[in-house]
Amino acid sequence: CTSCWRRMPEAAAMELARLETAAAEILATASDRDSALREIAQLLEASVPHYDWVGFYLADGRELVLGPFVGEPTEHVRIAFGRGICGQVAESGETKVVADVTAEANYLSCSSAVQSEVVVPIHAGGEFVAQLDIDSHARDPFAPDEVEFLQRLCARLARLWSET
Ligand code: SME
Repeated sequence: CTSCWRRMPEAAAMELARLETAAAEILATASDRDSALREIAQLLEASVPHYDWVGFYLADGRELVLGPFVGEPTEHVRIAFGRGICGQVAESGETKVVADVTAEANYLSCSSAVQSEVVVPIHAGGEFVAQLDIDSHARDPFAPDEVEFLQRLCARLARLWSET
């Protein structure tokens, strides 16, 4: 993976620090939850070369509903809990990093170009409310620091649910 941050850890650390600040600014200024999520998705997709689709799914009972996203439109606008990588995360409440989607039996394909995926849950008031989903055309691109950054980001995004 030529564009992946694994190959340039110092540059990646600097970029993650910049993204943390930029995301905090979006959270402080966005007018509502949808705009905040859209702006965060745009920020991530525009900043990280190996992010090819970035979006949010919101919990609606035992289903996930597609929210703001950046990238190709997907047929998966509603996903039952348990189905695909997204549905597994909705059920487990735990981050799932899939380095190679062809090795994942319970997977819903959006595009044949996608090779890897990371899904990070968002909990508010102890409940699963949404998730961040990122698809990549690179194989195994997600570094541990990067996944931790995404988890910190999602922990911060929780406040978008408690303020409404
Ligand atoms: N690949 C996901 C479906 C959502 S798309 O990536 C946007 C899954 O297996 O749940």
